[in-house]
Amino acid sequence: MLALGVALVSAGALYAVFAPQSQTAHAQEDPALVRQGEQLYNNACISCHGANLQGVSSRGPSLIGVGEAAVYFQVSTGRMPATRQEAQIGEKPVRYTPQDIDALGAFVQANGGGPMVPKGSLAGGDPAHGGDLFRLNCASCHNFTGRGIALSSGKYAPAIKDVNAQQIYSAMTSGPQSMPRFSDRQITPQDKRDIIAFVQSVTADRNNPGGYSLGGFGPVPEGLISWIVGITALVGVTLWIGSKA
Ligand code: HEC
Ligand code: HEC
Repeated sequence: MLALGVALVSAGALYAVFAPQSQTAHAQEDPALVRQGEQLYNNACISCHGANLQGVSSRGPSLIGVGEAAVYFQVSTGRMPATRQEAQIGEKPVRYTPQDIDALGAFVQANGGGPMVPKGSLAGGDPAHGGDLFRLNCASCHNFTGRGIALSSGKYAPAIKDVNAQQIYSAMTSGPQSMPRFSDRQITPQDKRDIIAFVQSVTADRNNPGGYSLGGFGPVPEGLISWIVGITALVGVTLWIGSKA
């Protein structure tokens, strides 16, 4: 009996030591970083998001539980701090250094938890599988190649460009604006890497001519252009033969 008790206790202790860090846990944030983040927050964010992150009505939403991922996405793409109310807060030049952004994220994380920015490399995803997932989960708003579309009442899903892997990942876990939040149960971390690999492959293609050169709309306009060019050439040849006769 005693042996069993000891075994159970030590198994528990081992688990506590080796258990993977939950993505949504209140991670142990560095207290100095959290303090620095609090100062930045009090200067630039408190007026819209409130003294306790609870939000301020008709100025800004609550940040409780949005996590470091949402802060990283919003601040590193220049969406936050917002300067005025609009249908959708767009990208502006980034106001903070990466270290400040970490501090703001640590402060929000320490005061409500939520999804975190993945640490380490996100490279090595499978773009073909990512493409399938993208067409299923993202293309309704971002188009088949991430070009974006207009949504209702002045809102839009932007073209996905100039975003790094961490920003694409945290867009998926934080779900900005009308974009849904994709939990790890819906799209596993490996699937998210695959989607990132796909997004990076199609956005890189925009810089080199080829299949996407006619706007990424695929074979239809390309076929149309070949048809027009071909018919014009045939008509030209016919006229030329006619004029000879
Ligand atoms: C002028 C008001 C204003 C200021 C200042 C402001 N925000 Fe915001 N914030 C908003 C609004 C409004 C939204 C909702 C954005 C939207 O829907 O486009 C928002 C959204 C966010 C979100 C996303 C929340 C979610 O649910 O995903 C985060 C994170 C955030 N703000 C962080 C910050 C941080 C950090 C600062 C300071 C550096 C800041 N904001 C300053 C108004 C503001
Ligand atoms: C219901 C529509 C919708 C769906 C579905 C959707 N998004 Fe979005 N997405 C948006 C909107 C709206 C924004 C802009 C949010 C903002 O500006 O605050 C956005 C922003 C983004 C951004 C940031 C782009 C930039 O240039 O800053 C990325 C990256 C992104 N989405 C990726 C994805 C991926 C990957 C998926 C699928 C797993 C997806 N989205 C599914 C609506 C959607």
